[in-house]
Amino acid sequence: MRKSTLFLPLFSLMMLSGEDWAEAQQKTANYDESKIVPYELPKLLVTREGTEINSAEDWTNVRRPEVLALFQEHVFGRTPGNWGKVSFETKEVKKDALGGKATRKLIHISLPEHPNWAGMDVMIYQPNNVSGPVPCFVGPSFGGNHAVSTEPDVPLSTRWMRPSKEKGIVDNRATEASRGNESSRWPLEMILGQGFAVATYYYGDVEPDHADGWKEGLRAALSKDGANTEWKNGDWGAIGAWSWGLSRIADYLETDPDIDAQKLAVIGHSRLGKTSLWTGAQDPRFSVVISNNSGEGGAAIMRRNFGETTAIITKSFPHWFTKTYSSYANNEAACPIDKHMLIALQAPRPVYIASAVEDQWADPKGEFLSGLNAEPVYALFGKKGYGVKEQPAIDHPLGDSIAYHIRTGKHDVTSYDWEQYLRFAKRHFGK
Ligand code: GCU
Repeated sequence: MRKSTLFLPLFSLMMLSGEDWAEAQQKTANYDESKIVPYELPKLLVTREGTEINSAEDWTNVRRPEVLALFQEHVFGRTPGNWGKVSFETKEVKKDALGGKATRKLIHISLPEHPNWAGMDVMIYQPNNVSGPVPCFVGPSFGGNHAVSTEPDVPLSTRWMRPSKEKGIVDNRATEASRGNESSRWPLEMILGQGFAVATYYYGDVEPDHADGWKEGLRAALSKDGANTEWKNGDWGAIGAWSWGLSRIADYLETDPDIDAQKLAVIGHSRLGKTSLWTGAQDPRFSVVISNNSGEGGAAIMRRNFGETTAIITKSFPHWFTKTYSSYANNEAACPIDKHMLIALQAPRPVYIASAVEDQWADPKGEFLSGLNAEPVYALFGKKGYGVKEQPAIDHPLGDSIAYHIRTGKHDVTSYDWEQYLRFAKRHFGK
Protein backbone atom coordinates (compact mmCIF):
# COMPACT_ATOMS: atom_id res chain seq x y z
CA MET A 1 0.00 0.00 0.00
CA ARG A 2 2.64 2.47 1.12
CA LYS A 3 4.84 1.41 -1.73
CA SER A 4 2.22 2.10 -4.41
CA THR A 5 1.25 5.54 -3.05
CA LEU A 6 4.89 6.53 -3.20
CA PHE A 7 5.32 5.01 -6.60
CA LEU A 8 2.30 6.66 -8.21
CA PRO A 9 3.22 10.36 -7.97
CA LEU A 10 6.75 9.55 -9.05
CA PHE A 11 5.42 7.56 -11.97
CA SER A 12 2.99 10.29 -13.04
CA LEU A 13 5.82 12.84 -12.85
CA MET A 14 7.91 10.65 -15.11
CA MET A 15 4.99 10.38 -17.54
CA LEU A 16 4.54 14.15 -17.93
CA SER A 17 5.06 15.35 -21.50
CA GLY A 18 7.76 17.96 -22.09
CA GLU A 19 4.99 20.57 -22.42
CA ASP A 20 3.38 19.60 -19.09
CA TRP A 21 6.70 19.39 -17.32
CA ALA A 22 7.68 22.86 -18.58
CA GLU A 23 4.34 24.20 -17.41
CA ALA A 24 4.85 22.69 -13.96
CA GLN A 25 8.23 24.46 -13.75
CA GLN A 26 6.53 27.83 -14.23
CA LYS A 27 5.33 27.67 -10.64
CA THR A 28 8.72 27.11 -9.07
CA ALA A 29 11.03 29.12 -11.35
CA ASN A 30 12.88 32.14 -10.04
CA TYR A 31 11.07 35.46 -10.58
CA ASP A 32 13.16 37.45 -8.14
CA GLU A 33 15.55 39.88 -9.79
CA SER A 34 17.74 40.00 -6.68
CA LYS A 35 18.42 36.26 -6.98
CA ILE A 36 20.06 36.56 -10.37
CA VAL A 37 23.66 35.50 -10.10
CA PRO A 38 25.93 38.23 -11.53
CA TYR A 39 27.09 37.35 -15.03
CA GLU A 40 29.20 38.70 -17.83
CA LEU A 41 28.00 38.62 -21.43
CA PRO A 42 30.34 37.22 -24.09
CA LYS A 43 31.97 40.06 -26.00
CA LEU A 44 30.18 40.92 -29.18
CA LEU A 45 32.91 42.90 -30.88
CA VAL A 46 35.95 40.76 -30.12
CA THR A 47 36.76 37.76 -32.31
CA ARG A 48 37.60 34.37 -30.83
CA GLU A 49 41.23 35.17 -31.48
CA GLY A 50 40.93 38.39 -29.52
CA THR A 51 40.85 40.93 -32.36
CA GLU A 52 38.62 43.97 -31.78
CA ILE A 53 36.00 44.73 -34.41
CA ASN A 54 35.60 48.42 -35.21
CA SER A 55 33.85 48.60 -38.56
CA ALA A 56 30.68 47.37 -40.23
CA GLU A 57 32.87 45.70 -42.81
CA ASP A 58 34.80 43.67 -40.24
CA TRP A 59 31.59 42.76 -38.47
CA THR A 60 30.09 41.54 -41.76
CA ASN A 61 33.14 39.72 -43.06
CA VAL A 62 34.84 38.47 -39.90
CA ARG A 63 32.82 38.48 -36.70
CA ARG A 64 29.30 37.89 -38.05
CA PRO A 65 30.22 34.58 -39.75
CA GLU A 66 31.94 33.55 -36.53
CA VAL A 67 28.88 34.36 -34.41
CA LEU A 68 26.55 32.60 -36.86
CA ALA A 69 28.76 29.51 -36.69
CA LEU A 70 28.67 29.64 -32.87
CA PHE A 71 24.86 29.58 -32.93
CA GLN A 72 24.97 26.64 -35.32
CA GLU A 73 27.44 24.75 -33.23
CA HIS A 74 26.03 25.47 -29.77
CA VAL A 75 22.34 26.35 -30.04
CA PHE A 76 20.28 25.55 -33.13
CA GLY A 77 22.53 23.31 -35.24
CA ARG A 78 23.52 23.55 -38.88
CA THR A 79 20.90 23.63 -41.61
CA PRO A 80 21.99 21.04 -44.18
CA GLY A 81 22.16 22.19 -47.78
CA ASN A 82 20.98 19.04 -49.49
CA TRP A 83 17.28 19.57 -50.16
CA GLY A 84 17.72 20.03 -53.90
CA LYS A 85 14.93 21.32 -56.11
CA VAL A 86 11.96 23.07 -54.48
CA SER A 87 8.64 22.81 -56.23
CA PHE A 88 5.65 25.15 -55.90
CA GLU A 89 2.17 24.05 -56.83
CA THR A 90 -0.65 26.59 -56.79
CA LYS A 91 -3.63 24.77 -55.34
CA GLU A 92 -6.02 27.68 -55.25
CA VAL A 93 -6.34 31.39 -56.01
CA LYS A 94 -9.52 32.78 -54.54
CA LYS A 95 -10.04 36.36 -55.64
CA ASP A 96 -13.02 37.15 -53.44
CA ALA A 97 -11.71 36.06 -50.06
CA LEU A 98 -12.59 38.01 -46.89
CA GLY A 99 -15.77 39.31 -48.49
CA GLY A 100 -13.95 40.57 -51.57
CA LYS A 101 -11.22 42.44 -49.72
CA ALA A 102 -8.52 39.87 -50.35
CA THR A 103 -7.09 37.26 -52.64
CA ARG A 104 -6.26 34.02 -50.92
CA LYS A 105 -3.70 31.67 -52.38
CA LEU A 106 -2.82 28.17 -51.33
CA ILE A 107 0.60 26.98 -52.46
CA HIS A 108 1.97 23.52 -51.82
CA ILE A 109 5.75 23.43 -51.44
CA SER A 110 7.52 20.10 -51.80
CA LEU A 111 10.90 18.57 -52.53
CA PRO A 112 10.78 16.31 -55.59
CA GLU A 113 14.09 14.70 -54.59
CA HIS A 114 12.80 13.92 -51.07
CA PRO A 115 9.32 12.46 -51.52
CA ASN A 116 9.35 11.10 -47.94
CA TRP A 117 8.58 14.60 -46.79
CA ALA A 118 4.89 15.37 -47.32
CA GLY A 119 5.58 19.05 -48.05
CA MET A 120 4.04 22.21 -46.64
CA ASP A 121 0.88 24.15 -47.41
CA VAL A 122 1.38 27.88 -47.53
CA MET A 123 -1.59 30.22 -47.28
CA ILE A 124 -1.27 33.78 -48.55
CA TYR A 125 -3.73 36.61 -48.10
CA GLN A 126 -3.10 39.76 -50.10
CA PRO A 127 -5.18 42.94 -50.28
CA ASN A 128 -7.29 43.46 -53.41
CA ASN A 129 -7.49 47.23 -53.40
CA VAL A 130 -3.77 47.89 -54.00
CA SER A 131 -1.93 48.01 -57.26
CA GLY A 132 1.59 46.68 -57.59
CA PRO A 133 3.53 44.25 -55.42
CA VAL A 134 2.93 44.48 -51.66
CA PRO A 135 5.17 43.90 -48.64
CA CYS A 136 4.47 40.71 -46.75
CA PHE A 137 4.58 39.35 -43.19
CA VAL A 138 5.78 35.75 -43.15
CA GLY A 139 5.23 33.60 -40.09
CA PRO A 140 4.44 30.07 -39.00
CA SER A 141 1.26 29.12 -37.13
CA PHE A 142 0.72 26.78 -34.20
CA GLY A 143 -2.61 25.48 -35.44
CA GLY A 144 -2.61 25.40 -39.25
CA ASN A 145 -4.03 27.61 -41.98
CA HIS A 146 -7.61 26.79 -40.98
CA ALA A 147 -6.81 28.11 -37.49
CA VAL A 148 -5.34 31.40 -38.76
CA SER A 149 -8.32 32.07 -41.00
CA THR A 150 -11.98 32.00 -40.03
CA GLU A 151 -13.05 31.27 -43.62
CA PRO A 152 -14.83 27.92 -43.66
CA ASP A 153 -13.41 26.80 -47.03
CA VAL A 154 -9.75 26.79 -45.95
CA PRO A 155 -8.75 23.09 -45.99
CA LEU A 156 -8.39 21.57 -42.52
CA SER A 157 -4.86 20.43 -41.83
CA THR A 158 -4.65 16.64 -41.56
CA ARG A 159 -1.26 16.69 -39.81
CA TRP A 160 -0.36 15.81 -36.22
CA MET A 161 -1.24 18.55 -33.72
CA ARG A 162 -0.42 19.05 -30.06
CA PRO A 163 -3.29 17.90 -27.83
CA SER A 164 -5.71 20.70 -26.92
CA LYS A 165 -9.36 20.22 -26.02
CA GLU A 166 -10.17 23.92 -26.23
CA LYS A 167 -8.69 24.11 -29.72
CA GLY A 168 -10.81 21.20 -30.90
CA ILE A 169 -7.89 18.81 -31.37
CA VAL A 170 -9.07 15.20 -31.16
CA ASP A 171 -6.56 12.34 -31.26
CA ASN A 172 -3.88 14.81 -32.31
CA ARG A 173 -5.87 15.93 -35.35
CA ALA A 174 -7.72 19.17 -36.10
CA THR A 175 -11.52 19.08 -36.34
CA GLU A 176 -14.12 21.57 -37.60
CA ALA A 177 -14.08 22.99 -34.06
CA SER A 178 -10.44 24.03 -34.62
CA ARG A 179 -11.27 26.60 -37.30
CA GLY A 180 -10.22 30.13 -36.46
CA ASN A 181 -8.69 29.20 -33.11
CA GLU A 182 -5.59 31.28 -33.86
CA SER A 183 -7.32 34.10 -35.75
CA SER A 184 -6.99 36.63 -32.92
CA ARG A 185 -3.22 36.32 -33.36
CA TRP A 186 -3.52 37.05 -37.09
CA PRO A 187 -5.81 40.10 -37.50
CA LEU A 188 -5.92 39.68 -41.28
CA GLU A 189 -8.28 42.56 -42.07
CA MET A 190 -6.18 44.97 -40.04
CA ILE A 191 -2.93 43.85 -41.68
CA LEU A 192 -4.32 43.77 -45.21
CA GLY A 193 -6.11 47.07 -44.58
CA GLN A 194 -2.67 48.68 -44.21
CA GLY A 195 -1.46 47.31 -47.51
CA PHE A 196 0.44 44.22 -46.38
CA ALA A 197 0.09 40.59 -47.38
CA VAL A 198 0.42 37.65 -44.98
CA ALA A 199 2.04 34.31 -45.80
CA THR A 200 1.83 31.50 -43.28
CA TYR A 201 2.24 27.76 -42.86
CA TYR A 202 1.62 25.20 -40.13
CA TYR A 203 4.96 24.53 -38.42
CA GLY A 204 4.02 20.86 -37.98
CA ASP A 205 4.08 20.47 -41.79
CA VAL A 206 7.85 20.62 -41.52
CA GLU A 207 8.12 18.71 -38.26
CA PRO A 208 5.53 17.63 -35.69
CA ASP A 209 6.43 19.31 -32.40
CA HIS A 210 7.27 16.42 -30.11
CA ALA A 211 10.42 14.53 -29.25
CA ASP A 212 9.98 11.91 -32.01
CA GLY A 213 8.36 14.31 -34.48
CA TRP A 214 11.48 14.53 -36.62
CA LYS A 215 11.00 10.90 -37.68
CA GLU A 216 7.95 11.94 -39.70
CA GLY A 217 9.29 15.31 -40.77
CA LEU A 218 11.79 17.02 -42.96
CA ARG A 219 14.81 16.21 -40.79
CA ALA A 220 14.45 12.45 -41.30
CA ALA A 221 13.63 12.94 -44.99
CA LEU A 222 16.86 14.85 -45.56
CA SER A 223 19.13 12.67 -43.45
CA LYS A 224 20.78 9.76 -45.14
CA ASP A 225 19.68 7.24 -42.49
CA GLY A 226 16.09 8.48 -42.35
CA ALA A 227 14.42 7.73 -39.03
CA ASN A 228 17.51 5.80 -37.81
CA THR A 229 19.58 8.95 -37.63
CA GLU A 230 21.37 9.80 -34.41
CA TRP A 231 21.50 13.54 -33.91
CA LYS A 232 25.00 14.63 -33.05
CA ASN A 233 26.38 17.86 -31.63
CA GLY A 234 25.95 20.57 -34.24
CA ASP A 235 23.14 18.79 -36.15
CA TRP A 236 19.97 20.81 -36.55
CA GLY A 237 16.97 20.71 -34.26
CA ALA A 238 13.29 21.38 -34.87
CA ILE A 239 13.66 25.18 -34.66
CA GLY A 240 16.18 24.93 -37.49
CA ALA A 241 13.71 22.87 -39.51
CA TRP A 242 10.76 25.24 -38.90
CA SER A 243 13.00 28.09 -39.84
CA TRP A 244 13.95 26.31 -43.06
CA GLY A 245 10.23 26.26 -43.87
CA LEU A 246 10.07 30.06 -43.62
CA SER A 247 12.98 30.38 -46.03
CA ARG A 248 11.18 28.15 -48.54
CA ILE A 249 8.21 30.51 -48.33
CA ALA A 250 10.64 33.32 -49.22
CA ASP A 251 11.77 31.20 -52.20
CA TYR A 252 8.18 31.07 -53.36
CA LEU A 253 7.43 34.74 -52.67
CA GLU A 254 10.39 35.73 -54.83
CA THR A 255 8.53 34.16 -57.75
CA ASP A 256 5.16 35.79 -57.00
CA PRO A 257 4.67 39.09 -58.89
CA ASP A 258 2.02 40.23 -56.38
CA ILE A 259 4.58 40.33 -53.55
CA ASP A 260 7.46 42.74 -53.06
CA ALA A 261 10.12 40.23 -52.02
CA GLN A 262 12.44 43.07 -51.01
CA LYS A 263 9.97 43.77 -48.21
CA LEU A 264 9.51 40.57 -46.25
CA ALA A 265 9.05 40.72 -42.48
CA VAL A 266 9.47 37.47 -40.57
CA ILE A 267 7.34 37.16 -37.45
CA GLY A 268 6.81 34.49 -34.81
CA HIS A 269 5.43 34.05 -31.32
CA SER A 270 7.03 32.16 -28.45
CA ARG A 271 8.77 28.99 -29.75
CA LEU A 272 7.99 30.37 -33.18
CA GLY A 273 9.52 33.69 -32.10
CA LYS A 274 12.74 31.80 -31.38
CA THR A 275 12.25 30.41 -34.90
CA SER A 276 11.77 33.85 -36.48
CA LEU A 277 15.00 35.12 -34.87
CA TRP A 278 16.92 32.12 -36.13
CA THR A 279 15.37 32.62 -39.57
CA GLY A 280 16.40 36.28 -39.66
CA ALA A 281 19.92 35.29 -38.59
CA GLN A 282 20.27 32.79 -41.43
CA ASP A 283 18.29 34.37 -44.24
CA PRO A 284 19.02 37.99 -45.20
CA ARG A 285 16.00 38.09 -47.52
CA PHE A 286 13.90 38.89 -44.45
CA SER A 287 14.44 42.61 -44.16
CA VAL A 288 12.46 43.09 -40.92
CA VAL A 289 12.56 40.59 -38.04
CA ILE A 290 9.96 40.35 -35.27
CA SER A 291 10.19 38.33 -32.08
CA ASN A 292 6.97 38.17 -30.08
CA ASN A 293 7.41 36.84 -26.51
CA SER A 294 10.22 34.54 -27.68
CA GLY A 295 11.77 34.14 -24.23
CA GLU A 296 14.35 31.50 -23.36
CA GLY A 297 16.10 30.14 -26.44
CA GLY A 298 14.91 33.31 -28.23
CA ALA A 299 15.55 36.92 -27.24
CA ALA A 300 15.99 36.40 -23.48
CA ILE A 301 19.52 36.55 -22.07
CA MET A 302 20.31 32.95 -21.08
CA ARG A 303 22.72 33.93 -18.29
CA ARG A 304 19.86 35.43 -16.27
CA ASN A 305 18.27 32.66 -14.23
CA PHE A 306 14.85 34.30 -14.36
CA GLY A 307 11.74 32.44 -15.50
CA GLU A 308 12.55 29.61 -17.90
CA THR A 309 16.19 28.54 -17.87
CA THR A 310 18.50 26.63 -20.19
CA ALA A 311 18.21 23.64 -17.84
CA ILE A 312 14.41 23.66 -18.09
CA ILE A 313 14.07 24.26 -21.81
CA THR A 314 16.65 21.68 -22.83
CA LYS A 315 14.97 19.11 -20.60
CA SER A 316 11.40 19.77 -21.74
CA PHE A 317 12.09 20.50 -25.40
CA PRO A 318 15.45 18.91 -26.29
CA HIS A 319 14.29 18.37 -29.87
CA TRP A 320 14.15 22.13 -30.55
CA PHE A 321 17.92 22.59 -30.33
CA THR A 322 21.18 20.97 -31.30
CA LYS A 323 22.41 18.43 -28.75
CA THR A 324 25.26 20.61 -27.49
CA TYR A 325 22.87 23.22 -26.12
CA SER A 326 21.86 21.01 -23.19
CA SER A 327 25.47 20.98 -21.96
CA TYR A 328 24.90 24.60 -20.89
CA ALA A 329 22.16 23.69 -18.43
CA ASN A 330 23.24 25.30 -15.14
CA ASN A 331 26.48 26.04 -16.96
CA GLU A 332 25.54 29.12 -19.02
CA ALA A 333 28.84 30.91 -18.38
CA ALA A 334 30.60 28.27 -20.50
CA CYS A 335 28.46 29.03 -23.54
CA PRO A 336 30.31 31.21 -26.08
CA ILE A 337 27.12 33.04 -27.07
CA ASP A 338 24.27 34.84 -25.40
CA LYS A 339 21.15 36.19 -27.02
CA HIS A 340 22.32 39.75 -27.61
CA MET A 341 24.40 38.04 -30.30
CA LEU A 342 21.27 36.56 -31.89
CA ILE A 343 19.83 40.07 -32.11
CA ALA A 344 23.13 41.39 -33.49
CA LEU A 345 22.96 38.80 -36.28
CA GLN A 346 19.94 40.71 -37.63
CA ALA A 347 21.96 43.91 -38.07
CA PRO A 348 21.65 46.24 -39.84
CA ARG A 349 18.06 45.11 -40.51
CA PRO A 350 15.37 46.42 -38.18
CA VAL A 351 14.42 44.03 -35.39
CA TYR A 352 11.45 44.29 -33.02
CA ILE A 353 11.42 42.52 -29.63
CA ALA A 354 8.13 42.35 -27.74
CA SER A 355 7.34 41.20 -24.21
CA ALA A 356 4.18 40.96 -22.13
CA VAL A 357 4.00 41.91 -18.49
CA GLU A 358 2.25 38.71 -17.39
CA ASP A 359 4.72 36.61 -19.34
CA GLN A 360 7.43 36.54 -16.69
CA TRP A 361 8.30 32.99 -17.76
CA ALA A 362 9.82 34.54 -20.91
CA ASP A 363 11.82 37.05 -18.84
CA PRO A 364 10.74 40.42 -20.32
CA LYS A 365 13.76 42.20 -18.89
CA GLY A 366 16.09 39.59 -20.37
CA GLU A 367 14.36 40.10 -23.74
CA PHE A 368 14.86 43.87 -23.45
CA LEU A 369 18.52 43.46 -22.50
CA SER A 370 19.43 41.39 -25.54
CA GLY A 371 18.35 44.28 -27.80
CA LEU A 372 20.19 46.82 -25.67
CA ASN A 373 23.41 44.82 -25.78
CA ALA A 374 23.18 44.35 -29.55
CA GLU A 375 23.31 48.13 -30.08
CA PRO A 376 27.11 48.35 -30.62
CA VAL A 377 26.76 46.30 -33.81
CA TYR A 378 23.93 48.47 -35.11
CA ALA A 379 26.04 51.52 -34.27
CA LEU A 380 28.76 50.26 -36.63
CA PHE A 381 26.18 50.65 -39.42
CA GLY A 382 25.13 54.09 -38.17
CA LYS A 383 21.84 52.64 -36.89
CA LYS A 384 20.19 53.52 -33.62
CA GLY A 385 18.70 51.11 -31.09
CA TYR A 386 16.39 51.85 -28.19
CA GLY A 387 17.69 55.30 -27.27
CA VAL A 388 17.26 54.43 -23.57
CA LYS A 389 19.07 52.12 -21.16
CA GLU A 390 16.15 51.08 -18.95
CA GLN A 391 13.15 48.96 -19.83
CA PRO A 392 10.28 51.33 -20.74
CA ALA A 393 6.97 51.61 -18.92
CA ILE A 394 4.22 49.19 -19.86
CA ASP A 395 2.58 50.00 -23.23
CA HIS A 396 5.28 52.51 -24.17
CA PRO A 397 6.91 51.19 -27.35
CA LEU A 398 10.28 52.66 -28.26
CA GLY A 399 13.32 52.28 -30.44
CA ASP A 400 14.58 52.85 -33.93
CA SER A 401 16.31 49.97 -35.73
CA ILE A 402 16.02 47.89 -32.57
CA ALA A 403 12.57 48.40 -31.08
CA TYR A 404 10.89 47.08 -27.97
CA HIS A 405 7.67 47.08 -26.03
CA ILE A 406 6.26 45.40 -22.99
CA ARG A 407 2.50 45.39 -23.15
CA THR A 408 -0.28 44.78 -20.67
CA GLY A 409 -1.51 41.21 -20.57
CA LYS A 410 -0.30 37.70 -21.03
CA HIS A 411 1.77 35.50 -23.32
CA ASP A 412 0.00 36.01 -26.66
CA VAL A 413 -0.06 38.03 -29.88
CA THR A 414 -2.64 40.80 -29.73
CA SER A 415 -3.86 43.64 -31.96
CA TYR A 416 -1.78 45.97 -29.81
CA ASP A 417 1.33 44.00 -30.83
CA TRP A 418 0.29 44.13 -34.49
CA GLU A 419 -0.31 47.89 -34.36
CA GLN A 420 3.31 48.32 -33.34
CA TYR A 421 4.63 45.85 -35.93
CA LEU A 422 2.68 47.52 -38.72
CA ARG A 423 3.96 50.93 -37.75
CA PHE A 424 7.51 49.58 -37.49
CA ALA A 425 7.36 47.78 -40.84
CA LYS A 426 5.86 50.83 -42.58
CA ARG A 427 8.57 53.08 -41.20
CA HIS A 428 11.34 50.78 -42.35
CA PHE A 429 9.80 49.80 -45.67
CA GLY A 430 9.26 53.48 -46.43
CA LYS A 431 5.50 53.23 -46.80
C1 GCU B 1 6.65 26.78 -23.30
C2 GCU B 1 8.15 26.91 -23.38
C3 GCU B 1 8.57 28.25 -23.98
C4 GCU B 1 7.86 28.49 -25.29
C5 GCU B 1 6.37 28.34 -25.10
C6 GCU B 1 5.55 28.44 -26.39
O1 GCU B 1 6.15 27.66 -22.36
O2 GCU B 1 8.66 26.73 -22.10
O3 GCU B 1 9.96 28.28 -24.19
O4 GCU B 1 8.20 29.76 -25.79
O5 GCU B 1 6.09 27.07 -24.56
O6 GCU B 1 6.05 28.22 -27.45
O7 GCU B 1 4.35 28.67 -26.27
